[in-house]
Order: sequence, then C-alpha cells, then structure tokens
Amino acid sequence: MDSIQFSVTIYALISLLTLFFLVAWLRRKPLPPGPMGWPIIGNMLMMDQLSHHGLARLAEKYGGILHLKMGYSHAIAVSSPEVAREILQEQDHIFANRSTTIAITYLTYNLVDMAFADYGPFWRQMRKLSVMKLFSRKRAESWDSVRDEVDAMVKSTAVNSGSPVNLGELVFSLTHDIIYRAAFGSISHESKEEFISILQEYTKLFIAPHLADFIPWLGFIDPAGLNTRLPAARAALDRFIDKVIDDHLRKRKKIRDQNADKDMVDEMLEFYNEEGKVNETEMLTRDNIKAIIMDIMFGGTETVASAIEWALAELMHTPEALKRVQQELANVVGLERRVEEADLEKLTYFKCVIKETLRLHPPIPIAPHKSSADTTVMGYHIPKGARVMVNVYAINRDKNYWEDPNTFNPSRFLQNGAPDFRGSNYEFLSFGAGRRSCPGMQLGLYTMEMALVHLLHCFTWKLPNGMKPSEINMEDVFGLTAPKAIRLVAVPTPRLSCPLY
Ligand code: HEM
Repeated sequence: MDSIQFSVTIYALISLLTLFFLVAWLRRKPLPPGPMGWPIIGNMLMMDQLSHHGLARLAEKYGGILHLKMGYSHAIAVSSPEVAREILQEQDHIFANRSTTIAITYLTYNLVDMAFADYGPFWRQMRKLSVMKLFSRKRAESWDSVRDEVDAMVKSTAVNSGSPVNLGELVFSLTHDIIYRAAFGSISHESKEEFISILQEYTKLFIAPHLADFIPWLGFIDPAGLNTRLPAARAALDRFIDKVIDDHLRKRKKIRDQNADKDMVDEMLEFYNEEGKVNETEMLTRDNIKAIIMDIMFGGTETVASAIEWALAELMHTPEALKRVQQELANVVGLERRVEEADLEKLTYFKCVIKETLRLHPPIPIAPHKSSADTTVMGYHIPKGARVMVNVYAINRDKNYWEDPNTFNPSRFLQNGAPDFRGSNYEFLSFGAGRRSCPGMQLGLYTMEMALVHLLHCFTWKLPNGMKPSEINMEDVFGLTAPKAIRLVAVPTPRLSCPLY
C-alpha cells in the first residue's frame, strides 16, 4: 500500500469512527429535566436547595426525576414512587452503590464499613455479619439493653413528674445509652462524654461538602478547614476505639470461660485479624471494626430518637390522636399495670401512630445512592457515577398516593390494604427498599415502640406554661437525619395506679 492509499484508509477509518460516536451521542436519551447551570460550576450555587424540602420544591416544577450538574458531577433527585420503584427495584443492581464524599471516604477508613461500601462481595460479607451477628433478633443482649434503658427512662421521668421535661434530650440520651451498651457493654460516664464529642464532630464532617467533591482541582480552597479537621477527628476515634478493642481483647478469655454476655465489639472480635482481608478470609481488621461501630452509632441513635420525639410532638399537636391512643392503652392494658411486650400486637391504633410518624418524618429524609453504569430511567439518560438522592420525605407525602398528605392522621393505616414500610410499597420508603434497605429496622422499631408505649401509658402529658397545641413548632432541621428544630418540652404526671419503678 503506497502512502496515499494508507492516508486515505486512515482518514476513512477516523471519519467512520467519528460518525459512529456522533450518531450514538445524538441518539442518546436526554438527561432528566432540571434548572440551567453555569459553565464549570453547573448548579453549585443551588447547594442550599439540596435538602429534602428544597428538592421537593424543585420536583413540583421539574417532576419526579430531575437533574442537577454539581461541578463535574451529575446529581439526580428522585421524588416520586414510580421513579423510586425503577431505581430501587427494577434497576437496584445498578443503583446499589452509595454516593460518598471526600469526608465520608476518609472517615470510613476508605469505605471499609457497610453503609458506604460499594455493592459487591466485601459489602455482602459485612452485611451478612451485621444482620446475623449484630442486629439479629437472636442477639438477646441488644433487646435486653432496650428494655433496661427504657425502664431507667421511665424512672427518671417519674422522678421529675410535675416539672417540664425536655423530651428531645430525654429520648436522644435514651437511644445513645441503648446503642453504647449494645456496642461496648458497660462504659464509664467520662468515656461516654468523650465519645459523644467525637460523634458530634463526625456528624458535622459527614455532611460538610468539600469543593473538591465537585471540582477536584479546587481542593486547595478549604473554607471549612476539612483538610485539618478530618485527620484530627479520625485520630480521636482511633485513640478511643483502640483502647476499647484492647480492653475487650484482654477480657476475651474471661467471657469465654464464664459464658458471659457479649457486646457488639466482642461479636466482631470473633472475626478479628489485623492482617485480615474480609472478602478472602472473612476476617475483620481494626479499621473494619471502627467503621462498622460508626455505622451503628449513626444508624441507630439519631434515627430512632428523632422518630420518638416526632411521634410525641405530633400527638401533642393533635390532641384527638393523643386521647385515642391513650384510651386504647387504658382499654387493652388497663391502668393498674405497666405495658408488657406481649401487649404491643393488640395495640392497633398505637401501631398506626408509629407508621404515620415514620411516613411524615422519615428519619433519613434522603437515601443516597449512586449509579454504577450508564443507564436509562423513565426515558432519561443517567450517567455512570451520578449521585442519586432518593427523596423519601417527598415520596412519603406524594399527593397522588396519600389523601391529605401533610396531615397527621394515623387512622389512614386502619384501612385494609394500607401501605407498609417494609420495602414493597414505593410510596412509603422510610426504611428504604432493595439491597441497601435498612438492616436495623427490627431493632429500631422495637426501641421506638417500647420507648413510646411506656411514655404514653405511664404518664399524662401537658404542654408547659399554658402553651396551646397549635403553638408547638413543627419545623425540622436537615442533616444526616431531620430532627425537630426546637426540642419538645412537656410536663408529665403519673397515670397508673401501680408503682412505676
Ligand atoms: C426508626 C429507625 C430507622 C430508620 C427509619 C432507618 C432508615 C434507614 C434508611 C432509609 C436507610 C437507607 C436505605 C436505602 O438507601 O435505601 C438505612 C440504612 C441503614 N441503616 Fe437504618 N434506620 C433506622 C434504624 C437503624 C438502626 C437501629 C440501625 C443499627 C443499629 C441502622 C443501621 C443502618 C445501616 C448500617 C444502614 C446502611 C445499610 C447499607 O448500606 O447496606 N438503622 N436506614
């Protein structure tokens, strides 16, 4: 082949390839609708609208699936049950990764936990361990710690009867105590204080976006000081949990010899090997153990506490519902004894109160997912690596599925065939659905039910200083969870004729 022929052939090949890619690009489905962005930064100026409220407002304009360009990355907000079904059921295998940030990656020791690990053999292994060993109903110690700590809460409330009780603080301290005990066994007051301050810094860092998450070459601009705060926070956690692990390793022999109760750290140490590679040998390293502990702390404390506080706030805000649930308790249990676990199944209206609270106030208002491949959803192109925000808050209030969606009305769940939150009704996604749905649902529900049923049965609650129900502030704040913006305060008086402790 002479050089002219060679050049023509190369030219023809390049033209064909260009044409092929051009046609493929032109035939590609469009991105979902969304607001216009700026060059390079895209929609980053709308960052403050990425809360469940902001995205719900945008969905009213753009629909159940909308697209935002955040610097170099694509973000998709899902706000309708139909789109959620497509993402969490039909294409669950493509959307089973979590979207993460630089902060989350660093704080989870490079995603070696369960909540943020990419979907695959490693995540499966971690999930199996958590479901079977840590959150399982068979692990009686976790369930015992719920009962004991609820008893302690009833006692401390009874001691304060007649005076205003900050119910928000009460239930947050309850869930912290339950999870600490379940995770670490006994823990001193000073250690608990130290751990709470580590958790508080983690909570702030987890939701702090870094400019480099969206425009990687701008990492040197760091107004929130993440480049120094991240290593400091992780070093504090290392110091704390290394000591916990060493103490547990020392006590290990005693536990085996005396057949004593095991906490979650003991359970994980059964699989401990510093050199372990989880997917090959089913072993856990220290980093795995630390990262899983943080999953449990974040998954199991604020979620449950905010749900209990919201249930009490909604009931006090809707006195007919409060009266009805307490009347049911008086009829089914009676005012001569405290509630027992076996009573729960007979408390039909109480169960509806739990469901209605979780519908209106899903503790995790946005479930973060990520696409692992290019795909098409509802006729729109979703690029590989897009951050997918499933707006559970907006979906649970979709007016096409729920009558009077913003009203607290537990009776809606008395109807036959009412939706449930166990993952097959895509209009009720409080625990998520599909592969990444909540593994702590049973433990979370049990804690919520036990705390709430005792507070409602043992005490009559009045608002302080003549406050009217309509004056309760019902706003939330957006973070990892969406708790009440202003804590609920109410005055308890004992309701039963038997002693409370
Ligand atoms: C009322 C209580 C709770 C609610 C409403 C709740 C809700 C959720 C939701 C919505 C998700 C994300 C689902 C998705 O992406 O589709 C999730 C994941 C998770 N939850 Fe819960 N949760 C609760 C309690 C708990 C408890 C008590 C624990 C542990 C002690 C826990 C541990 C986790 C973990 C580890 C994940 C991540 C699972 C994974 O990515 O594979 N949760 N939860």
